[in-house]
Amino acid sequence: MKNQSSARERLIVRLSVSVLVLCILAGGLAGGILWMIVDPVETPIATPAPPIVNGLDVESGLIAEGDYQLVKAQCTGCHSGKLIAQNRATRAGWLEMIRWMQETQNLWDLGAAESPILDYLSTHYAPGRTSRRAPLEDAGWYDLER
Ligand code: HEC
Repeated sequence: MKNQSSARERLIVRLSVSVLVLCILAGGLAGGILWMIVDPVETPIATPAPPIVNGLDVESGLIAEGDYQLVKAQCTGCHSGKLIAQNRATRAGWLEMIRWMQETQNLWDLGAAESPILDYLSTHYAPGRTSRRAPLEDAGWYDLER
């Protein structure tokens, strides 16, 4: 009788230990998964360098100054920004092109964006402004060795 009961006790102890170990393992696993999901450590997100080369926004070809992002957002959905960049006009001329697109090409009402867009266009794509860079001023002449 004594032997039987101690064998039973041992079985109970073993079972309890196994259950305990399983609980710890399961808890650890659940914790690990939760950790992965919640990710309490802020993963540093590398900010990609703005794709601007030689002062031009690479995606649109627009001069990357002032409100170019606004122009890019409103004006490059139907055609490339290059179509814009190859045109020159005064503020009135740009407004005329916008009105023409609104009347014939389904361009939407630009609302509050119209004025800054016109500012940008008439500043960066004004008549007489070429897309070529200005001539070098300090070219740095040097003597040819003979
Ligand atoms: C809803 C579509 C749409 C949007 C948005 C749009 N355009 Fe246009 N645009 C056109 C179409 C269509 C043409 C004619 C394209 C062609 O001739 O190949 C055009 C032509 C042009 C031209 C050439 C005009 C010419 O005389 O050759 C310029 C410059 C231009 N758009 C500038 C802009 C600017 C600036 C914006 C933002 C305010 C803009 N577009 C937004 C549809 C659009």
